Amino acid sequence: MSLCKWTASGGMVCSIPVTNIRKCRLVVFQQITQHQQAQTAYWLLHIFGNDFKTQGIQTIPEMISFIKEQWQNGDSFYVFIAPNENVLGGIGIDLSHNEPFLSNMFIIPSMRKHGYSKILMKYAEIHSRRFGFNYIKLWCEPKLVNYYKKFGYDFVSKNVNGKGEPILILSKKI
Ligand SMILES: CC(C)(COP(=O)(O)OP(=O)(O)OC[C@H]1O[C@@H](n2cnc3c(N)ncnc32)[C@H](O)[C@@H]1OP(=O)(O)O)[C@@H](O)C(=O)NCCC(=O)NCCS
Repeated sequence: MSLCKWTASGGMVCSIPVTNIRKCRLVVFQQITQHQQAQTAYWLLHIFGNDFKTQGIQTIPEMISFIKEQWQNGDSFYVFIAPNENVLGGIGIDLSHNEPFLSNMFIIPSMRKHGYSKILMKYAEIHSRRFGFNYIKLWCEPKLVNYYKKFGYDFVSKNVNGKGEPILILSKKI
């Protein structure tokens, strides 16, 4: 079954039959409009602000520059665009450690619990396979372990983040 197909603009049209999802697009950050980039930056700061603060990123322009620099050349930050052109969510897929790592996945609060994150997770697998990987890894807070277990991820190791908080690495064969 085809989950996504390329569009002429370089975006992706998802065709997975998930509740309330039709004509949403997954597009790399560099290819969305400036307004959508600002929306994405706003939500990343709103949702993951404390993590970015430790990296000195506190404003929307700083966030936009960071995403453009951090996720390029094979690493990508995919933004999920709703049919009304508003940002619905996003996910970072980082290949710079010579293995695929997912990070900063989010769905905006008003659109949660409609199955949208499943599409992001599925797409991350497609992307990683396309780069020749047969597994995928992610960092996660302990409170989200049960969420990722639903997608088939298993515990690999435990570490601490910059603030000394526990952070887990999970992995899944794809
Ligand atoms: C985590 C998050 C991305 C889930 O997005 P969502 O679109 O609401 O999730 P979905 O509707 O696709 O749910 C998928 C499944 O996970 C379950 N689920 C959703 N959030 C969950 C949570 N916090 N804990 C456990 N299970 C959860 C759903 O019930 C659903 O299960 P089902 O298929 O059995 O019904 C969203 O809550 C979010 O953006 N949170 C803030 C950012 C964050 O924590 N990101 C992850 C860290 S990198």
